[in-house]
Amino acid sequence: MNKLYMNGKWIESASGRRFDVLNPASGEVIGQVADGNAKDTQKAIQAAHDACESWAHTLPKDRTQLLSDTARAILVNREHLARVLTQENGKPMHEASSEIAYAADFFTWFSEEAKRVYGRTVPSNVPDRRRMVIKQPVGPVGAITPWNFPLAMIARKVAPALAAGCPVVVKPAEQTPLSAIELFRVFHDSGFPRGTVNLITCSDPVKVGNELLHDERIRKITFTGSAEVGKFIMKECADQLKRVSLELGGNAPVIVFNDANIEKAVQKVVASKFRCAGQTCICPNRIFVQRDIAGTFSETLAQTVKTLRVGDGIKSDTQIGPLIDKQGLEKVKTHVADAVSRGARCLIGGNTPADQALRNGFFFEPTVLVNVTTVMKIFNEETFGPVAPIIAFGTEKEVLEMANSTPYGLSGYVYTNDLGRAFRVSERLECGIVGVNDERPSVPECPFGGLKQSGIGREGGSEGIEEFTETKYISFGID
Ligand code: SIN
Repeated sequence: MNKLYMNGKWIESASGRRFDVLNPASGEVIGQVADGNAKDTQKAIQAAHDACESWAHTLPKDRTQLLSDTARAILVNREHLARVLTQENGKPMHEASSEIAYAADFFTWFSEEAKRVYGRTVPSNVPDRRRMVIKQPVGPVGAITPWNFPLAMIARKVAPALAAGCPVVVKPAEQTPLSAIELFRVFHDSGFPRGTVNLITCSDPVKVGNELLHDERIRKITFTGSAEVGKFIMKECADQLKRVSLELGGNAPVIVFNDANIEKAVQKVVASKFRCAGQTCICPNRIFVQRDIAGTFSETLAQTVKTLRVGDGIKSDTQIGPLIDKQGLEKVKTHVADAVSRGARCLIGGNTPADQALRNGFFFEPTVLVNVTTVMKIFNEETFGPVAPIIAFGTEKEVLEMANSTPYGLSGYVYTNDLGRAFRVSERLECGIVGVNDERPSVPECPFGGLKQSGIGREGGSEGIEEFTETKYISFGID
């Protein structure tokens, strides 16, 4: 039960230790999993290394078949996977269920891309040479995945790596190993060759992470998580010039112009701001509203937020679950307290819920703050919680300056009915993903990733598979 998976087998950790997994809605232990360490990681790396040659030479059509079978199997297990995910992550069941479909979609998309890893021929400038460029798998990949989308983020990394011909060693977040284990059961049943998919669950990410970062057999690290850890990974990988893709935090601006449909903009802002209790990397973090509509927008937003039901995600009527852990909850409290102490006002929320049934979970009330300014923590740092801070602005120029004033640049949103403005603003926003009147731009077929300190590389789209390939130029002498 809940073991490590490597070389096609479930095994106990070398130490025999296990660690507890908590339900953030109740603080209760819901399971125990094998606690992998450096020795286990070495074994998994060896398994991936051994599988590398034959997986790289598997025919693309066979990889396509395996990945699309996996997509189907994920959907067959959708209800079960969603339940496990909700219990360890806290998000409402309907969100968990759409995450499972999203994860399956990555397998479907990359099953098709496996056939399209094209190179090119280059016209030769001399008669007796022919030039060719090919794409080859980069080699064994270390995938370090987060807790906020425990299955979709494994899928977004593993599906393109496998499609490109690279075996993987996955280290899931210590808060959410159970759903990763369930996903690996699906992989096992789908029949991936031994060593192509390996899983190390662990309570100490540093020990396992260090092996993945420093072992020469791992040729690429793909990571989703904080900017701080992303920078550490990049520094550690510099010694070997190991390839890295980093999908890091954001500080997403939303810009609502006075020509936007206010009702629709509110509905969409609520949908993106409060998804996963505000713990997505592309959640709106700063909501800029043009001054003449700021009052109406804020009131409408507060009225809508007031109706959101907070509770255990496993209950069918829950709309907002808990934060992932105590540390996450403390950060949200600190940001709200800092904002209020500097003059912000809570229109709704601002506390932990009074409901006694929720007292042992890591809940925070969905909150709307007005009078937010650029000096507050909530403006400058990613809150990762259910708090919507509103900042009033005057002109397009002023709002672009404020929106671009942070070191991050993952996603941004614009609400307007003026086409020219939509183009001007989306082109000038310093972020990798822009939603124009679109609260949910992430899809498997388009590139996801950030500018500035929000990361390097892209996941999804045709770019997503490129990240797992190397370019080789071959020149033929034909004289
Ligand atoms: C993330 O928060 O990193 C993923 C969000 C998404 O794919 O929509």
